[in-house]
Amino acid sequence: MIAPVRSLKGCDFIDLADLDRAQLREVLDLAHAIKAGQWSERPLDGRHVAMLFQKPSHRTRVSFEVGIARLGGSTTTLTENDVQLGVRETIPDAARVLDCYVDGIIARLRSHEDLLQLSGASDKPVINGLTDRSHPCQVLADLMTLEEVRGDLKQQHLAYIGDGNNVANSLIEAAAITGIALTLISPAGYEPAADVLERARRIDSGTPRITVTNDIKAIDGATAIYTDVWVSMGQEAEREARRRAFVEYQVNKDVMNAAPGAVFMHCLPAHRGEEVTDEVIDGPRSVVFQQAGNRLHAQMALLAELFAR
Ligand code: CP
Ligand code: NVA
Repeated sequence: MIAPVRSLKGCDFIDLADLDRAQLREVLDLAHAIKAGQWSERPLDGRHVAMLFQKPSHRTRVSFEVGIARLGGSTTTLTENDVQLGVRETIPDAARVLDCYVDGIIARLRSHEDLLQLSGASDKPVINGLTDRSHPCQVLADLMTLEEVRGDLKQQHLAYIGDGNNVANSLIEAAAITGIALTLISPAGYEPAADVLERARRIDSGTPRITVTNDIKAIDGATAIYTDVWVSMGQEAEREARRRAFVEYQVNKDVMNAAPGAVFMHCLPAHRGEEVTDEVIDGPRSVVFQQAGNRLHAQMALLAELFAR
């Protein structure tokens, strides 16, 4: 029977790189076991988690609410108009107050720096539910999905086509930890940030196989093609410029035909007709709803680790 990793008890989960390779392996093993019905403990019995959302959410909110309930815990979900972090009170004050009531905090904040401030001020586990910088919970589910549909992560070649955004940043960390070969294909000016790549290259996984290019044809041998929206939440003012910049980077039938062995991945929500066509996202190689479903199992495993008794 799989038991949670004691080394993660009480920790924050701000980025995927907070886990080393062995810890990530154990989270994924537990996620698979939970999905298979082989693990059904209730480590959150009697525990309450606050969820703070400064941006909209469907998958993250519902999968955490359901997952926490299945683990025996309960939640309070607060949206933009409730706590008003940094507006009605400072972030550290809000964190210290929440600590009086709850056993953990899940936060989807606009600014990654604000999340770091929140986690620095809270003594309880803080989980990143997406920031402008990263989306590690999404990528936990993505790794789980890749293992289900493709097997050994070290044998995978993931081609990410699109914006060098929060999801791309977490995929970069995932590749560095697991040894996935990752090709990031973005229009000029929208590549992932240099410091994210630099940090990933310092993570010890042998030799990270991470390539950055503007060439959408660089998908030879891909076992998975991944894309995300061209305009992330909070970037709406850049919509027209971004649509022009990304127009050649749509994942359509031609792109999928050039990578015949690849599944199609997307974190959702998708802007159909922009970064992906209907026939690809609804096609036989799309695993997007499996990814969405795995948010539940991957996050339950993460919670079981952070809230281990
Ligand atoms: N993929 C994801 O995080 O979806 P939501 O924004 O709906 O939570
Ligand atoms: N990059 C997207 C991901 C949404 C899950 C955004 O930040 O809006």
